[in-house]
Amino acid sequence: MKQTTVKYLKEYVGETVQLQGWLYNKRSSGKIHFLQFRDGTGTVQAVAAKADVDEALFEQLRSLTQESSIRITGEVREDDRSPGGVELTLGTCELVQQAVDYPIAKQAHGPDFLLNHRHLWLRSQKQWATIRVRHEVVRAIRDFFDERDFVLLDAPIFTPAACEGTSTLFEVNYFDDKAYLTQSGQLYQEAGAMAHGKVYCFGPTFRAERSKTRKHLTEFWMVEPEMAYYDLDMVIDLAEAFVCFIVERVLANRRQELGILERDPAALEKITGPFARITYDEAIELLQKAGSEIQWGGDFGAPDETMLGDHFGKPVFVHHWPTEVKAFYMKQDPDNPKVVKAVDLIAPDGYGEIIGGSQREDDLDVLEGKIEEHNLPKEAFEWYLDLRRYGSVPHGGFGLGLERMVAWMCGTEHIRETIPFPRMLYRIYP
Ligand code: 4AD
Ligand code: MG
Repeated sequence: MKQTTVKYLKEYVGETVQLQGWLYNKRSSGKIHFLQFRDGTGTVQAVAAKADVDEALFEQLRSLTQESSIRITGEVREDDRSPGGVELTLGTCELVQQAVDYPIAKQAHGPDFLLNHRHLWLRSQKQWATIRVRHEVVRAIRDFFDERDFVLLDAPIFTPAACEGTSTLFEVNYFDDKAYLTQSGQLYQEAGAMAHGKVYCFGPTFRAERSKTRKHLTEFWMVEPEMAYYDLDMVIDLAEAFVCFIVERVLANRRQELGILERDPAALEKITGPFARITYDEAIELLQKAGSEIQWGGDFGAPDETMLGDHFGKPVFVHHWPTEVKAFYMKQDPDNPKVVKAVDLIAPDGYGEIIGGSQREDDLDVLEGKIEEHNLPKEAFEWYLDLRRYGSVPHGGFGLGLERMVAWMCGTEHIRETIPFPRMLYRIYP
């Protein structure tokens, strides 16, 4: 007998196959059992009618509980009404382990309960679909850069200094010294870009975010490309092509998952370039007209981002930000020192900022001044300043937050569902 997985059942119509997995759900009457069987690759309905199977098996199925592990055999039948196009006529069922009182029942649970049971919640359909979209987005990210001659340059997790401001640093003991968990691999990518031209890193980053919002994790994954001889416009062009590429891949390969998530593909199909590009000044004018209290110099609040997203109905680039709200390493605009050559990409539907990037300050004196102004320890940045001493060139890059991208793709309300084991202000278990 052929052993296979739910994913490949269609190739076995008319044959008897073996599957191994778990009982996802069961509906029974006195005469028939409908098993929802899952094996990780998908779910399929297996049907056992009293008239067709022996009595011992029919009785065994009666007592089979949710999430028990089972090996089953059955004949594959075409069935147009089922989502996978096939059904199974159950032949045998071998119990591997009987699960007693699976905690996640079919009724609704609150988020705390579900997050406490995240190790089990991952098995639920929507969670299963979300992680598979995440996988697709990760693959698209790697392919995009690998196909464009970028070199993967892994950044360290332990760092001696801040990259994105000192207020969200996680401090750890490092032997007799202190170190910080990385907030961003960017500074190291800048070194990499001077060695390889175009590089990227993709890994976990950490921010001690005290805010409890639907967009913030304390541990999240960021992909950060960095390119030598790129100005801000080139950075924006690349970011636009990148986001379109990911959206296309999700639409091409994860339709089934979007269906499970009840995410209307039409909302993603309209995400094609070009995206609008507006200056921070123009954004402030738009926001004030729309009733926001924001003043020039302020950072956008979540309602501001939502407003901008709604206004354009597509992602929108906001560039040339006030120097005070942005990081020390951003390139000062030579025509207007009040602003830096920074860009944020704001996603529609309330998903907010998904990308932050900039052209970097490549002038040694200006950069030294910025480090001082930001009260950063100069010793820790000597290596970084070397990049401006030895062959400094215009360069830039950006960072995309993986979980925010996945949340937007999936239409997920809260970012915590887009990472297998979320880390947040009051959550480090399981
Ligand atoms: O805008 P940020 O802070 O930019 C940087 O870290 C730059 N060094 C990137 C670069 O130019 N190489 O963060 C980039 C993105 C944000 O746009 C957002 O998508 C995500 O990272 N992000 C978070 N995602 C989840 N939880 C948080 N606490 C996040 N903080 C930032
Ligand atoms: Mg940002």
